[in-house]
Amino acid sequence: LTSSVQQMDSRGSFGSKLGVVLASAGSAVGLGNIWRFPTEVGRNGGAAFILIYLLCVVLLAMPVMVSEFVIGRASKTNTVHSYRVLAPGKPWVLTGFMGVLAGVLVLSFYSVVAGWTLNYTVESLTGQLMHPQDFAAHFSKFSAHPLRPLLYVYLFLLLTHFVVSRGVRNGIERYSKLMMPLLFVILLLLVAVSITMPGSSTGLTFLLRPDFSKITGSVVLSAMGQAFFSLSVGIGCLVTYASYFGRDTRLVSSAFNVCAIDTLVAVLSGFIIFPTVFSVPGMVPDAGPGLVFITLPNVFNTAFAHTPVLNYVFSGLFYLLLLLAALTSSISMNEIATAFIHENYHVSRHCSTIIVTSVAIVLGTACSLSFGAWADVKLFGMGFFDLFDFITAKFMMPLGGILITVFVGWYLDRKLALSELTNEGTCWCRAARVMLFLIRWVAPVGVGAVFLNQLMA
Ligand code: PFF
Repeated sequence: LTSSVQQMDSRGSFGSKLGVVLASAGSAVGLGNIWRFPTEVGRNGGAAFILIYLLCVVLLAMPVMVSEFVIGRASKTNTVHSYRVLAPGKPWVLTGFMGVLAGVLVLSFYSVVAGWTLNYTVESLTGQLMHPQDFAAHFSKFSAHPLRPLLYVYLFLLLTHFVVSRGVRNGIERYSKLMMPLLFVILLLLVAVSITMPGSSTGLTFLLRPDFSKITGSVVLSAMGQAFFSLSVGIGCLVTYASYFGRDTRLVSSAFNVCAIDTLVAVLSGFIIFPTVFSVPGMVPDAGPGLVFITLPNVFNTAFAHTPVLNYVFSGLFYLLLLLAALTSSISMNEIATAFIHENYHVSRHCSTIIVTSVAIVLGTACSLSFGAWADVKLFGMGFFDLFDFITAKFMMPLGGILITVFVGWYLDRKLALSELTNEGTCWCRAARVMLFLIRWVAPVGVGAVFLNQLMA
């Protein structure tokens, strides 16, 4: 352990506690919050779903997050090597490899939606979304185009590349500190406008009315999957980030802050989307990509028909918000594999990032084409985009969550775990014990039950 700590003194680290929270929250807050969460809530029983989601966050996802923090900070190295340091010669290292693979797969399909977002940001800022048109046709024409969506995927991956290749402090931390406050400001501005729109109360009712009759086993599974995806847990992303934490960073309270920020952003995004959609009589919120790329431009044009300036500003800011959120998340996905290649194969950080970006470009191309030229290419009955989404969110993340909590709760020396959780006994001893209980019992059993249930279904 000591030699690894010494060796890693030369690696990057976050410069401040604020940097730690903003970078980790940056990873968490993403497309998952702004369009996936509101859609899931609307479809699955409103406030009843939010309640189940909160339970999944606190009881299942937060313990996984804290466990990742423990592994990362105790080993001070990338997610593969961390298991070699903490469990030499044991097969635990496979959990690390699975994380690296999952990170690249998530990055590949995520960049497709991020690329669409980038295109819509450009289109809204250049005024192309400013006249009523058939937005469904507009979207399918764009996403099925053989070239245009690819260019935006590449552009987005290059933006991500730019940040990650600059390193931990000058890249990830610096840009998170810049982008996250901007994201909050835009978010609050949009909430202020949307809740004052006519008919906003119908939207809020749609979002918040609890309908417990909709809560079924598969809804609980969706809530758990959403919590894991939204908090970036289960694939070693936060192991990697925590390896850059300082000794004085409090792991339990940082995890709590990240979960709170992430949930707040998710709920506030619902406060933007539904009041806006319902401000137009007869409009119903679409599910999935359609909500953001078809329904919303439609709504913006109708709701602000008499005030084109507001249409321009509101839609421009909305897509910019989505883009910023996507970028702070994609850098964390890229960092998992970049740190691994850089440290394990002694390749420069710059070259490691080039390798990861190149692989993501190839796989991202396949995912993007599955909406157009390769729509008929199926593996296990799914296109590349759906396949990558399915195996990461429904399989690798929950499995990773079980392995990570079992590793910290049962394999790792209890004294080491407690010392990490309490910063050598200096803080929050009671919270640390409660957390250790969640890590040992609640999270692995809970995630395992939901996961098995799904495998059998
Ligand atoms: N948490 C991100 C979101 O909600 O959009 C997605 C994500 C980031 C998943 C990083 C996985 C990951 F490692």
